Amino acid sequence: MSKHEPVLLKNMLQPGYTGCLQDYERTGGYQALRKVLGKVPPTEVTATVMKSGLRGRGGAGFPTGVKWGFLPKDYRGPRYLCCNADESEPGTFKDRQLIERDPHQILEGIVLACYAIGAESSYIYIRGEFVLGARILEQAIAEARTAGYIGANILNTGITANVWVHRGAGAYICGEETALLESLEGKRGLPRVKPPFPATHGLYNKPTVVNNVETLANLPHIINRGPEWFASIGSPPKSTGTRIFCVSGHVKRSGNYEVPMGITFRELIYEHAGGMRSDKPLKAFIPGGASAPFLTPDHLDVKLDFESVAAAGSMLGSGGVTVMEEGTDMVWAALRLMEFFYHESCGKCTPCREGSSWLVQTMRRIVAKRGRMEDLETLVDLCKNIAGRTVCAFGDAEVAPIMSTLKHWKPEYVTLIHEAQAANLLHPKRIMARP
Ligand SMILES: Cc1cc2nc3c(=O)[nH]c(=O)nc-3n(C[C@H](O)[C@H](O)[C@H](O)COP(=O)(O)O)c2cc1C
Repeated sequence: MSKHEPVLLKNMLQPGYTGCLQDYERTGGYQALRKVLGKVPPTEVTATVMKSGLRGRGGAGFPTGVKWGFLPKDYRGPRYLCCNADESEPGTFKDRQLIERDPHQILEGIVLACYAIGAESSYIYIRGEFVLGARILEQAIAEARTAGYIGANILNTGITANVWVHRGAGAYICGEETALLESLEGKRGLPRVKPPFPATHGLYNKPTVVNNVETLANLPHIINRGPEWFASIGSPPKSTGTRIFCVSGHVKRSGNYEVPMGITFRELIYEHAGGMRSDKPLKAFIPGGASAPFLTPDHLDVKLDFESVAAAGSMLGSGGVTVMEEGTDMVWAALRLMEFFYHESCGKCTPCREGSSWLVQTMRRIVAKRGRMEDLETLVDLCKNIAGRTVCAFGDAEVAPIMSTLKHWKPEYVTLIHEAQAANLLHPKRIMARP
């Protein structure tokens, strides 16, 4: 197992650490704010984050400092920061742990980001189901406000940064940044057409940055320990720092593991997560949340960094690694994910709204052993007509489980269809029962 020091999970691993303000301050918390607020120009903070190579941990992996740099320099009106705590991607549960166990680490990151981009108001958009997390954040904000770390005139520097918690109603699409902004404005959470991008036309049509919880939690450490330190961890130059991978499924020890980017899936699954739960061989794994195409045992030595996973035909996404053992029915697994996407399609774009319904019906039919060989062509045709033809990346996400299982485990689809044909030969009238 590679030796590495946890960064984001370090505090909570200390015995007795509760995540309250005193505990956080005892571990050096809020020193990054003291170091930069009113002393280092905001542009320099942005330059430091750029130099660190930090890339977004929400899914797309966009360089954080570069994103901040897109905000108009000469705009005099309000600007906003939104912390994306929706964490709606199936198989992903890292932001929740950061929120519940070390909320001040995130709050310090939020105030640092507000300072860098010149925002006086920020919102933590948290998924409705995270009731405990929302309460913990409210309490931490109250503590930080009383201590002078949040609000007006922070640490007597004259700088203002307010933080508000906004609870969503539990819709996957509201994790998508522009749907999140719509929801925050009190409207139905539907993605916006881009451009214009949130950097110029975001919350209330003002310049806005949306960053993931884990992205923001890295900021105090980058400021305290320097961009060179951060850039030296992981797989430089393009995948720097650590990442929290959420390992679930058929492993012995599921959970969150913070490791430097660039270790292999083999190390993550067999060493950190203890290997397969029943010592059956591994059959498949999803490397980055339900939206990421499935990978196979042949990909165990792929490195967990943005480029390597993309080169293997998938994506690092949200860091949710779901492991499946030999014996898992891959067509059923793809259907299970498709049911989720069908349920969560927001309905704005026709290819996704209508296509998800047809995909799920076709998949249900195959799994129920009532499929036909032509159904496989229909699936591919539907997927091709959805991917890249929707306002947001949901369309690409929903076709990933079907396209990747068809790529790697097509014989399983064919077997189910052969079984359907055999059943139809025995019972010729069954063909009439197709939906
Ligand atoms: C359908 C969909 C769901 C998403 N859900 C989340 C989410 O739950 N949390 C998150 O941080 N990003 C999510 N994203 C990505 C966000 O749109 C956005 O890229 C991210 O919050 C930016 O933060 P980052 O640059 O720090 O990664 C989602 C994207 C899509 C297309």
